[in-house]
Amino acid sequence: MLLYNNRKSKLGVTFRMENPILSVRNLTTKLQIGSSYYAVVENFSFDLHAGKTLAIVGESGCGKSMLALSLMRILPSPPALPSEGEVIFNGVNLLTLSEKKMRAIRGGQVAMIFQDPSSCLNPVYTIGSQLVESVGLHHRIYGAEAKELAIQGLIEVGIASPEQQFDDYPHQLSGGMKQRVMIAMALIGEPEILIADEPTTALDVTIQAQVLDLIRALQKKRNMAVLLITHDIGIVAEYADEMIVMYASQDVERGKTLNLFNSPAHPYTKGLFQSRVSLAVQGNKLKPIQGSVPLLTHYPHGCRFHPRCPFVMQKCLHGPVPNFDLPEPDHRARCLLYE
Ligand SMILES: Nc1ncnc2c1ncn2[C@@H]1O[C@H](COP(=O)(O)OP(=O)(O)O)[C@@H](O)[C@H]1O
Ligand code: SF4
Ligand SMILES: [Mg+2]
Repeated sequence: MLLYNNRKSKLGVTFRMENPILSVRNLTTKLQIGSSYYAVVENFSFDLHAGKTLAIVGESGCGKSMLALSLMRILPSPPALPSEGEVIFNGVNLLTLSEKKMRAIRGGQVAMIFQDPSSCLNPVYTIGSQLVESVGLHHRIYGAEAKELAIQGLIEVGIASPEQQFDDYPHQLSGGMKQRVMIAMALIGEPEILIADEPTTALDVTIQAQVLDLIRALQKKRNMAVLLITHDIGIVAEYADEMIVMYASQDVERGKTLNLFNSPAHPYTKGLFQSRVSLAVQGNKLKPIQGSVPLLTHYPHGCRFHPRCPFVMQKCLHGPVPNFDLPEPDHRARCLLYE
């Protein structure tokens, strides 16, 4: 709750943190596998602020998508159970909202885009008709006026000949174009929050940058909060104000992006930086993190990273590891080296 309050800086000047748009507190989501329950998202707390980007970064399988789906309440069930904790948006806990009210928020004030646009675009309808339908749904505007808004939406995401693409089917578009259309769809509801789950993972590097630059430009224009989910720490450096490193369902390090890049604390975060391909390009040897991500059903006792950690100590093998504060404000790591 600290983030809500006026805080005193080290110089004694009181400054006011803008209220967050979304406050997540102790969010936990469990999966039922066989007769056992496993937390795939464990005790997550964070705030999203207007115009700012928070990145969630971690290797495949750590629970990033489950976290995003938990916020939107679109978890696959089974195996997922309803999430516990709080997701406060405009003073309301989305986790206890009726499904009807939640449906209005989903795709409206809170929108989501995915790695695979085909999960949002129906292959049997033209993109124009899908955009027009979305305009009707969110604004109750139909006919020629809806078409005009749909075309404007396509222009906003940088589609060069929108009149022409309006009548295209999704399969007629390139991957990057489809991603732009999906962004246009997401923006029709005028969201305050955009959740982007690996939005560019399937695209080649040049197109990737174009799509991420587009998201950033639209974010600035509309003052949206963006939750950017990625396995690519390079993307985080470029696009996120703050970041949370996720490992085996938990947050293991968090803070301002600049602070984490200048002084990464958790051995896992250090490993992520060292395994970045761009370091290899500079002639340094690429150092992948040893070992592999543990299975949800087989998390190690103690620190979940301990089987892969070069700094492991006897005390890391037992008991849960809490988060510890680091010298920079809002910088924390779940590691006993900082006890
Ligand atoms: N339908 C499912 N049934 C069982 N386990 C699942 C299911 N979906 C995801 N999981 C498990 O949940 C974990 C987190 O998945 P996910 O959130 O998709 O990871 P990420 O997005 O970080 O790659 C993985 O270990 C995965 O095996
Ligand atoms: S708690 Fe121990 S095993 Fe875990 S990351 Fe820190 S040093 Fe490594
Ligand atoms: Mg995922």
